[in-house]
Amino acid sequence: MATEVETKPQDTTAGDAKKKKAPGFSTLCIHAGNAPEPATGSVTFPIYQTSTYVQEGLGKNKGFEYARTQNPTRMRLEENLAALEGGVGARAFASGMAAITAISTFLKQGDHVVCSNMTYGGTYRYYTRILAKFGVTFDFVDTADIEAVRRAIRPETRMLHLESPTNPTMRLADIAALSELAHRVGAIVVVDNTFASPYLQRPIELGADIVMHSTTKFLGGHSDTVGGAAIAKSKEHLEWLGFVQNSSGAILSPMDSWLVLRGIKTLVVRMERHEENGRAVAEHLARHAKVRSVHYPGLPSHPQHALAKKQMSGFGAMMSFELGSFENAGRFLERLKVCSLGESLGGVETLISHPASMTHGSIPEAERNRLGVTPGLVRISVGIEDVADLLADLDQALEAI
Ligand SMILES: Cc1ncc(COP(=O)(O)O)c(C=O)c1O
Repeated sequence: MATEVETKPQDTTAGDAKKKKAPGFSTLCIHAGNAPEPATGSVTFPIYQTSTYVQEGLGKNKGFEYARTQNPTRMRLEENLAALEGGVGARAFASGMAAITAISTFLKQGDHVVCSNMTYGGTYRYYTRILAKFGVTFDFVDTADIEAVRRAIRPETRMLHLESPTNPTMRLADIAALSELAHRVGAIVVVDNTFASPYLQRPIELGADIVMHSTTKFLGGHSDTVGGAAIAKSKEHLEWLGFVQNSSGAILSPMDSWLVLRGIKTLVVRMERHEENGRAVAEHLARHAKVRSVHYPGLPSHPQHALAKKQMSGFGAMMSFELGSFENAGRFLERLKVCSLGESLGGVETLISHPASMTHGSIPEAERNRLGVTPGLVRISVGIEDVADLLADLDQALEAI
């Protein structure tokens, strides 16, 4: 009976004949961190909705003292996430931004960060409006361009923050090559793996030190929770992240931890359908007369299609496409019936957004256009509905142009 699964990252020491075969990714999604609750055998691990724990005597407790510091439901999710990303451990936070904030405490005054110039707007805002006040400096560069990253890295660079694919233009960063560059100066490589999920991309295996997620997206998968996580490759980084989690307190709640743990159980089947629908939608849009271009790493026309094939195991459900003008985008978006206009991504339902006026609205127009976030650009997070319904909905809305 499979009740407990060995969830440690695979030991790659050669010649260990007794080495157990590591479980497959689907098995990890379902079983890592999900051993039955010991008191009752409950197959689904409970939500420990408590703030504190009764202690047996002075200095005598069951390893649980106060729920900001230890919560069993959150710890189970952390165990699961570490297994999926191949890290030594994970820490779950109140949101993706709380995870990024915790990771940023590896930095101090005088340190320099190289960051993707198409990073999530909230990350850009946090770095430039908050962290910069504390004497950390930044260079935002096109991380699809290895030479641009090489030029930006300096001896005092302490962190390389990558997002791959980026939002909304779906540019990729070569995680292995860029990790090597950053490590030469001793910088930590952080990869925001929210768009890909560990099903499609495992940055630690490619050389990253820390992977972060907005668990709000594909990991939760049902648009019903906000959360974040940081997964570390080294014990030292994990210990610091745990210290920060407890000290600054932006913990993921027991209920949200449980929702993400539950969502991950179906990550593989959801991602398979996201992928199937994503490819079909991208190919359909690429053939459509009203669509000027499609940005999707799975299309051979994508400038980094070869890199996508090398570092990802699929191409996912995120893409953007060009309708030529703000008016065209508006007419199209107003006519949609199955696809919903909304700012998030990664849920079972198809969500469409208009980056120039929504997620990227705070970037000055000229800069937006330079980055390819044009007034006619529309982004889709393709859901897992019947693909025929999605294609029909997109077609009828495109007729409005
Ligand atoms: C790529 C990426 N990283 C981080 C975040 C921030 O996550 P959260 O909204 O959970 O704080 C988001 C949110 O949309 C995102 O898309």
